Amino acid sequence: MDREQRIVFATGNEGKMREVRAVLADLGLPVFSMKDLELHADIVEDGTTFEENARIKARAVHAITGGLVLADDSGLEVDAMGGAPGVYSARFMGEDTSYEIKNQAIIDQVAGCVGAERSARFRCVIAAVFPDGHEEVAEGTIEGQIAERPSGSGGFGYDPIFWLPGRGLTTADLPAEEKNAISHRGQALRIMAGRIAAWQEEQK
Ligand code: IMP
Repeated sequence: MDREQRIVFATGNEGKMREVRAVLADLGLPVFSMKDLELHADIVEDGTTFEENARIKARAVHAITGGLVLADDSGLEVDAMGGAPGVYSARFMGEDTSYEIKNQAIIDQVAGCVGAERSARFRCVIAAVFPDGHEEVAEGTIEGQIAERPSGSGGFGYDPIFWLPGRGLTTADLPAEEKNAISHRGQALRIMAGRIAAWQEEQK
């Protein structure tokens, strides 16, 4: 396939890929994960910000595949934990520790906090490397609180403890389309989709 007619998304995380495919569907370009392409890149995410890590991942995969490559770096910031786990969200308590355990640990850490003291947000930065090598980034944020207890079976990762006070539910309680409509990743992806559409127009 012509590499300019596809998007490679630099992740192996299936939870992310479901959201990414849904939001980018309108572009009419097939979206491949690294798993789909059987790509194994040992990427050292040693950036200290979501943007640095997103750029690191997108560049590393673009160096292998060429074409249009997107990567996201995202995470949960809990104010009562000084912004942790932040860029270390995937690695918090160890990459192989279950989210049941990680989520309970966060609930335990904010046990003494009430209401707004439990504030938290998901952040996402999407980095794109275009076929000519130029880069763009887009960001999204969603504000919420740490739930009193896990709820819901949708989404992935920290979704069961990400409480939306205005809605009275967690992002894991939301149907996928509703999460995508408001989430950090949905916001960043829609901005990036607009830039990709503009680039597609320029190619005509
Ligand atoms: P990354 O692959 O380094 O970007 O890791 C991001 C990590 O942040 C994920 O593995 C999850 O732990 C967490 N995370 C990011 N976005 C979400 C989300 O939408 N829901 C739940 N957890 C998320």
